[in-house]
Amino acid sequence: IETLLTEKDLAEEHLLVTAGPTREPFDPVRFITNYSSGKMGYAIATMARRRGATVTLISGPTQLPVPSGVRFLSVSSAREMRDAVMTTLPEATVVIKAAAVADYRPAVRQEQKMKKKDEDLTLKLERNPDIIQEIGKQKENRILVGFAMESEHLVEHAIGKMVAKNMDFIVANDVTKQGAGFQGDTNIITILDREGEMEELPLMDKMAAAGIILDKVREIRDTRRN
Ligand code: CTP
Ligand code: CA
Repeated sequence: IETLLTEKDLAEEHLLVTAGPTREPFDPVRFITNYSSGKMGYAIATMARRRGATVTLISGPTQLPVPSGVRFLSVSSAREMRDAVMTTLPEATVVIKAAAVADYRPAVRQEQKMKKKDEDLTLKLERNPDIIQEIGKQKENRILVGFAMESEHLVEHAIGKMVAKNMDFIVANDVTKQGAGFQGDTNIITILDREGEMEELPLMDKMAAAGIILDKVREIRDTRRN
């Protein structure tokens, strides 16, 4: 019913949305990850579909049901996510990178389950590819949206990321605030754009936050058309 009642104002867009954490294994049974629930990205995919967009959702492991009507690609590591994103990118007109991509992966993935020893263990980590940065280098007419989760200097860090990665706008949230962040159903977001505008939004449902993020996408598309 919601779908029938919603204006199809994104019908001309193909949104590529990434969501969830990545898993970086170091043996067959263990991995490094983070607390991302995937809720923000899934909310964006759901709302975009309701608004008529074609949606590809590329997701790391989450507990969430696949939103209906969405093309879904399941991935695990950052490198798998990168490959899936790059394969889909040519069709995408909007890219929203809500995934919490692990910055590092274990340098070695052991074939067999590691056995404990008496001494301490040091794991060497190596850098993962920065997916959104790669997209930023071949952005063309796409609208590129990133996220930043920060524990301090929210605005400075977020603007730095937006500029460095060639995003059109960035959605920043402060993990130290109650009601913001990875696990809950709510978020407290600040939207920063290339025009220097800053919109500090109150605590809201992730679905409502997704709606505002998509309004901003629509607004940028409209200004480019004129
Ligand atoms: N991102 C990405 N690929 C990575 C790391 C991050 O595409 N390997 C994207 C995220 O999906 C997000 C944006 O970059 O949209 C910012 O992620 P964040 O972790 O906040 O920033 P980093 O640049 O990784 O900086 P740091 O973790 O040091 O704060
Ligand atoms: Ca990071």
